[in-house]
Amino acid sequence: MEDQDLKEFIKERYGKIARGETLFCCPGCGPTVADQCLAVGYTPEDLQLVPESAVLGVGCGNPTALADIAAGETVVDLGSGAGIDVFLAATKVGDRGRVIGVDMTEDMVAKGRLLAEQHGFPNVEFRLGYIEHLPVDSGTVDVVISNCVINLTPDKLASFQEVHRVLKPGGRILIADLVTAGELPPDVRASAAAWADCLAGAMEKEAYLETIRHAGFAEVAVVSESPYEAPGMDERLLGKIISVKVRAFKGQ
Ligand SMILES: C[S@@+](CC[C@H](N)C(=O)[O-])C[C@H]1O[C@@H](n2cnc3c(N)ncnc32)[C@H](O)[C@@H]1O
Repeated sequence: MEDQDLKEFIKERYGKIARGETLFCCPGCGPTVADQCLAVGYTPEDLQLVPESAVLGVGCGNPTALADIAAGETVVDLGSGAGIDVFLAATKVGDRGRVIGVDMTEDMVAKGRLLAEQHGFPNVEFRLGYIEHLPVDSGTVDVVISNCVINLTPDKLASFQEVHRVLKPGGRILIADLVTAGELPPDVRASAAAWADCLAGAMEKEAYLETIRHAGFAEVAVVSESPYEAPGMDERLLGKIISVKVRAFKGQ
């Protein structure tokens, strides 16, 4: 499948999730959305701080817990979905800071905007766009976070180069994502559905970290990692998918 066709397939999938027409997995196949969030690192207190409809259970970590976000900072969330991490970051940056969520799926952006308005988050903004061409000015951002998104793009280097461009000198990233340990079966790699499930596009861990360095980042470090299993996941993938949280810095 061509890259643009794959993106359209993924948009369609996440559009349905945004509209509540489908869950990330089949109904009744596994834990609740809240359970999924607790399993990947959110606390019950985190979930109380954000609008309930922003919680979709499609992340693989809790980047805001590890990003040391401070009051007054400007944060960008790549592939923000309905905004769970945007809203959590907004509680940390406060009135003097701001948080910009970027997502390519119109219904996700619309949902985030509506929730921000309904729940009174004046310091957040949702922008429609691709992470490979961020709709954000150069050198304006303190922290870039992301939760289970970069595996979905066929061009990971372009995405990290864009992140490097928008960060201020000394700015940092805290990315939660899925990577692989060992070869995935070729039919899985070729499956658009497995891409949309955040599996087929995941890179081998070392190659992923090297891509971040190649984009210009320094001090690239895995802050934490754990085996990843989703309800109903192809058993050939068990033990081969890892959830990583990666920190890195843009040099001064
Ligand atoms: C697995 S969901 C994660 C959503 C959110 N981070 C969360 O944890 O709830 C992936 C999101 O990334 C968006 N996305 C995927 N590829 C993208 C790209 N190339 N540019 C912008 N957004 C993208 C999708 O539209 C979807 O909303």
